[in-house]
Amino acid sequence: MDLRALYMYAAVPALLLCSAATFIQSPTDVFGPVDLLEPTPSSARDFGAVVSDPPFAIMRPGSAADVALLLRALSSSAKPRAPRAAVAARGAGHSLQGQAQARGGIVVETRSLPRNVVVVTAGGEVTSARAYADVGAGALWVEVLEECLKAGMAPVSWTDYLYLTVGGTLSNAGISGQAFKHGPQITNVLQLEVVTGNGEIVTCSPTESQDLFFAVLGGLGQFGIITRARIRLQHAPPKVRWVRAFYDSFETFTKDQELLISMPERLDYVEGFMVLNEHSIQSSSIAFPAHIDFSPDFGSDGSKKKVYYCIEFAVHDFQQDDGYTVDHFVELVSGEMSYIRPHMYSAEVSYFDFLNRVRMEEESLRMQGLWDVPHPWLNMFVPRHGVARLKDLLMDTVLPGHFDGAILVYPLLTDKWNKNTSAVLPSTPDGGVMYVFSVLRSADPSRCGRRCVEEILEQHRRVADEACRAGGGGIGAKQYLARQPSQAHWRDHFGSGWDRFAARKARFDPVRVLGPGQGIFPWTDSATSMWR
Ligand SMILES: Cc1cc2nc3c(=O)[nH]c(=O)nc-3n(C[C@H](O)[C@H](O)[C@H](O)COP(=O)(O)OP(=O)(O)OC[C@H]3O[C@@H](n4cnc5c(N)ncnc54)[C@H](O)[C@@H]3O)c2cc1C
Ligand SMILES: *[C@@H]1O[C@H](CO)[C@@H](O)[C@H](O)[C@H]1NC(C)=O
Repeated sequence: MDLRALYMYAAVPALLLCSAATFIQSPTDVFGPVDLLEPTPSSARDFGAVVSDPPFAIMRPGSAADVALLLRALSSSAKPRAPRAAVAARGAGHSLQGQAQARGGIVVETRSLPRNVVVVTAGGEVTSARAYADVGAGALWVEVLEECLKAGMAPVSWTDYLYLTVGGTLSNAGISGQAFKHGPQITNVLQLEVVTGNGEIVTCSPTESQDLFFAVLGGLGQFGIITRARIRLQHAPPKVRWVRAFYDSFETFTKDQELLISMPERLDYVEGFMVLNEHSIQSSSIAFPAHIDFSPDFGSDGSKKKVYYCIEFAVHDFQQDDGYTVDHFVELVSGEMSYIRPHMYSAEVSYFDFLNRVRMEEESLRMQGLWDVPHPWLNMFVPRHGVARLKDLLMDTVLPGHFDGAILVYPLLTDKWNKNTSAVLPSTPDGGVMYVFSVLRSADPSRCGRRCVEEILEQHRRVADEACRAGGGGIGAKQYLARQPSQAHWRDHFGSGWDRFAARKARFDPVRVLGPGQGIFPWTDSATSMWR
């Protein structure tokens, strides 16, 4: 018998698979009324499109209680041969390397949980001081936004792309150009409902079951399945003034970015990206309605390849008529910046269109058949002192060849992060400034086949190893959204936080049912030997 068959048999011995119907039914003594379904192709697929691990079954829970039944049955050690299978929550499946997959196990599709959004504002008056939304964890952020806007409100902290689930981004961090001001999404959550690996349903917050609350935020799906979240809200502006300015010096670009994040009272969003070629000006401008008249020399005459940089910032426009105008703000701010004059461009867009800007890029890529392709991405948090070296490292390794995609570069302030969460940050001795460095690459199958994707991933591994080396003059970066290649890498990644992370696992998911696709806690020999 091959190992996989043995594992499946041993893991879920009592499941009856009715292959004619779409139902796999489990006896009530094991799973109660929980229905497991046959896997669909999407349960072994994700946005990264490099890992494909089919599960044994999937589940579409209608409530937290359904999830609890499943996890209780799988984690219960009362029975000597208690059924065991690993379980992965799957939100929108926008992971990069199989993190929401469960080979031979069970994928719990959180999209089937109730997705209603309840907006609560303090009293009758809509004040943002205590406004929040209670949302199902399987809701997409775009659904949350649509509901909140009906009450004139919106969450404060975002991701660039909104077709991600609340549970999925809260299991990582959730960052975008608002995070310098408000912190990441995980520090703007007031309460969670979680089903732990033990199958307990717990409502937790910074003051109630806080150990679980902080564990789960940035917890990579290791401690529980989030079923609801209470998200902090603020007033939504009707419009946003969206500005872009171009640079030819990395030093000036980052200096201006740091100037901008020191003005949270004036600005609501700060990001930036590398301008590698004509294409990166065009493709990043699909949603940006101003005409950009910037066509620099990228070194076409055979001289050294040149790159440029673009800062993007935004100001919420409440269109008040009290002398305080957005124009005045933008003028003040731009007067202090050192971009290549006159290359600053600005546009006024609705708040919804601003937040949903990546959707337009997605639609354009879909039309070209370039959305459902492999995505070898590399995301890093880099301490300020290492950012120029990381840029040089990328210029020497990743950038000389053909490049489809974008490279985002923007600063954040680590003091805006709650260090009690499970998210991993680099140490930032100089003023808490760290940079997000996101190499968001698409592999067009007509140019870059499987081998080429493997080579890119291998190159990224080498860059990450080099960038993450701490001490002895290393850059000391940390990866974001990555599946580490080995346990040793995971320990290095967590560094001094490893013991806390492992203790959280031992407490909330002692049987290691959850999150197999991350590869952090592989089942040990002693665990599998239970079945021999
Ligand atoms: C086009 C694109 C743009 C992106 N932009 C940003 C960005 O700007 N900022 C940013 O921070 N990230 C960004 N991301 C990354 C994104 O935040 C993560 O990939 C996130 O995990 C996606 O959410 P999902 O619902 O697809 O998660 P999935 O891929 O379904 O799951 C991700 C992980 O979380 C676990 N999980 C999912 N739901 C739950 C739950 N309810 N409870 C517990 N664990 C759960 C899964 O098991 C898995 O380990 C982007 C991704 C893409 C594809
Ligand atoms: C972090 O956790 C500790 C212990 O639970 C708590 O006392 C402290 O207030 C928390 N800090 C923050 C910023 O939430």
